[in-house]
Amino acid sequence: MSIWEADDALERTERLVAAEHTEDDLEIDRTLRPRTLDEYLGQQTVKANLAVLIEAAKARNEPLDHVLLSGPPGLGKTTLAGVIANELGVTIRTTSGPAIERPGDLAAILTNLEERDVLFIDEIHRLNRVVEEVLYPAMEDFAIDIVIGKGPAARSLRLDLPRFTLVGATTRTGLLTSPLRDRFGMSFRLDYYTPDQLAAIVKRSAAILGVRVSEDGANEIARRSRGTPRLANRLLKRVRDYAQVRHDGAITEDVAAEALAFFEVDHVGLDKMDIAILHALTTTFRGRPVGLGTLAAAVGEEPGTLEDVYEPYLLQLGMIARTPKGRQATPRAFEHLGIAAPGQSGQSGLF
Ligand SMILES: Nc1ncnc2c1ncn2[C@@H]1O[C@H](COP(=O)(O)OP(=O)(O)OP(=O)(O)O)[C@@H](O)[C@H]1O
Ligand SMILES: [Mg+2]
Repeated sequence: MSIWEADDALERTERLVAAEHTEDDLEIDRTLRPRTLDEYLGQQTVKANLAVLIEAAKARNEPLDHVLLSGPPGLGKTTLAGVIANELGVTIRTTSGPAIERPGDLAAILTNLEERDVLFIDEIHRLNRVVEEVLYPAMEDFAIDIVIGKGPAARSLRLDLPRFTLVGATTRTGLLTSPLRDRFGMSFRLDYYTPDQLAAIVKRSAAILGVRVSEDGANEIARRSRGTPRLANRLLKRVRDYAQVRHDGAITEDVAAEALAFFEVDHVGLDKMDIAILHALTTTFRGRPVGLGTLAAAVGEEPGTLEDVYEPYLLQLGMIARTPKGRQATPRAFEHLGIAAPGQSGQSGLF
C-alpha cells in the first residue's frame, strides 16, 4: 500500500484536519450526510427550534423565515441547509458568496427560484457589497430593482420574486454587515459536538459504510475528533483503512488508538499544526501575546486557516486566549506540552 510509505506525516495530518476536501472526502461527505432532522445528531436546541418553525411554516403554506447558520468548519451547516429544504419538502439551490460576482448573477438565481424554495448561500460573508444590496429587497420584500438604460434615460424597474427562504452559512458572523444580519429572521450558531454525540455519529457512519466498530472504538475516535463531525467521519475512514491493512478490519479501542497515533492525532485530537501553534506561543514567543500574522508566519500557515480551522478548537480547549494584544498561550497549553509555564515559579509580572 503506497499510501503508508509515500505520505509524510505532516501531509497525512493536514489532510485530516484542514478544510481542504479531496474527491474522496467529498464523496464520503455526500454518502454520510443526514437528510432529516432525526438523522441530524446533536445540536438539540437548534433542531427543536427549527422543527417548530418548519412545521408552522408548512401548516401556513408559507416560506420559512430566512435562516443564518454560523460556526466553525465541518459542524454541519451545509448539511443542515439540506435538511431544512428536505423537511420543508422544497428544492434547494446552492451557491456561495464568492461565486456571485455581479448583481446580474444574483438576479438570475433569484428569478429562477420556485415559490418556497430554499436558496443556500455558503460563505455569505464573502458576498461583495453591490451584490449584497440586491439581496436586501429580495429578502425583505421578495423583489429586486433593476436599472434599465443608462444616464438620464435610466429607469428603475421593480421585479417581483417568488417567496423563498434564504439560508446563509458563515464561519464568521463577525464579518457579516449588520444590514444583512438584521434581515435574517433567525440565526443559529452551531456548537462543537460532545464526545457522546460524535460517538453516535461515528456509529451511524460505520453502519452506513459497513465497518465493524466497537463501542469503545467509536468513543476513541470521537474523543479525538475535536468536536467536529466531518473530522469524526474522516478519522473513521482512515482508521478503517488502517484496521483493514494491519488488523482484521474491526475497529476496537486499541486499534483506533494505534491508528490515530500512526496518523499523529493526539489524545485530545490535536494534530501537528495545532502542536506547532502551541509550540510557537509557548516557546518561540514565551507565553507573550502575538499577532495573528506573526503567528501564521511562524508556523507556515495562512492566517485565515489559522483563524477558521485551528484557533476555534484551541480556544474551546482553553489552550490559547485572544487578548487585545494578540493570541497567547494559557497555562493549559504549557501543561499539555509538558513545559513549565513562565511565572509558575511565583515571579509574576515578568510578561
Ligand atoms: N449533526 C450531524 N449529524 C451527523 N453527521 C453530521 C452532522 N453534521 C455534520 N455531519 C457530517 O459532517 C460532514 C460535514 O458537515 P458539513 O459539510 O455540513 O459542514 P459545514 O459546517 O458546512 O462545513 P464548512 O464550514 O466547511 O462548509 C457532513 O458530510 C456530515 O456527514
Ligand atoms: Mg459547508
